[in-house]
Amino acid sequence: MTNASLPSHMTGLPRQWCWPHELAALALAIGMGAAALAVMVGAAYMMRALQIRLTPNPNAPLPIAALPPEPELDLDSFVHGRAIFSTVCAMCHGPDGRGIRGLGRDLTHSLFVCDQRDSALASFIRKGRTANDPLNLTKVEMPPRGGRPDMTDENVSQVVTYLRGLQDPRRVPAAAATTPNPVVLVPPPPSQDDLAKALAAAGGDAELAEYIANGSRLFASSCTSCHGRDAKGMPNLGKDLTVSTFIAERDDDQMLEFLKRGRDPNDPLNTSKVAMPPKGGNPALSEDDLLDIVAFLRSIHARGPAAAK
Ligand code: HEC
Ligand code: HEC
Repeated sequence: MTNASLPSHMTGLPRQWCWPHELAALALAIGMGAAALAVMVGAAYMMRALQIRLTPNPNAPLPIAALPPEPELDLDSFVHGRAIFSTVCAMCHGPDGRGIRGLGRDLTHSLFVCDQRDSALASFIRKGRTANDPLNLTKVEMPPRGGRPDMTDENVSQVVTYLRGLQDPRRVPAAAATTPNPVVLVPPPPSQDDLAKALAAAGGDAELAEYIANGSRLFASSCTSCHGRDAKGMPNLGKDLTVSTFIAERDDDQMLEFLKRGRDPNDPLNTSKVAMPPKGGNPALSEDDLLDIVAFLRSIHARGPAAAK
């Protein structure tokens, strides 16, 4: 005997079982529940994204401080690593390695760094971590070799030595404090090919071509890690500069001012909430260097060098 053939009071269903209204109420309840869940998941996701973008408390004790000290680091490797770090890594990880909000993470407290053996850490730095790598929590790319293909494998091990010292100051050789940084990773002078390209972009003006070629070389070493090799931008990092109306609408003096100052995430003009560091994070760039970079940017701008003032 099936339920359908029973009188309704015996099946436990209410006598006035009214499908359309009951269903509508049920659908509404499910819909509201799902909406509330979506809001909660969205909020949790945003909180997490925000949390990841903030650097951890820089004054927290270093994770390694509790462990017995390891042997002192090699002085030469350490100072080379320090020079490379300030040239290549500091723009994203901060001059002291404590991270920059929305850019590179704090490396002084990084358990990842602490856990990896030297060889594994070196291999990580050589490979980097793309924005869509499942291990990437910030969705900002860690570029291979920090965006400097001219970094040799030896340079990478030197940086690893420096990271060890950042994580455990007890291992830093005392002489490091008084040893000046060696000169590292000087960008090569423009090639004949670069010069020819620059001359074409400058419409045959040899002096302007020289500025553009020099700007191109400096851009490659100081700006590409965030804006990409072709200046077309990187996901969650620097913007596309080849179509930037900001550049097209500013004269050279205004561009110089901008590059010297950078753009803080709190700046009203900042749309990405990621910092554009002053001088792209390379304090060594002179005003002339920056103006050469501006000449280069105008030469590759979609509106053509005519946008230049
Ligand atoms: C263009 C910006 C940028 C530059 C330049 C850069 N990094 Fe990074 N780095 C990042 C970002 C972003 C992350 C975090 C990616 C993620 O969320 O997994 C990261 C992560 C790391 C990590 C892993 C930390 C962890 O706890 O997971 C190490 C180690 C590291 N970087 C070392 C370096 C070194 C050494 C250099 C210089 C040779 C360098 N980075 C240059 C952006 C950069
Ligand atoms: C560490 C990463 C980083 C480096 C290195 C860097 N930038 Fe940027 N830059 C950014 C970010 C992020 C923005 C976008 C900020 C915003 O949302 O307004 C930006 C914005 C800009 C803008 C404004 C574009 C616009 O349309 O608003 C210019 C111009 C620029 N960068 C030029 C440079 C130059 C030239 C260099 C090298 C000297 C450089 N940047 C190096 C991250 C970087």
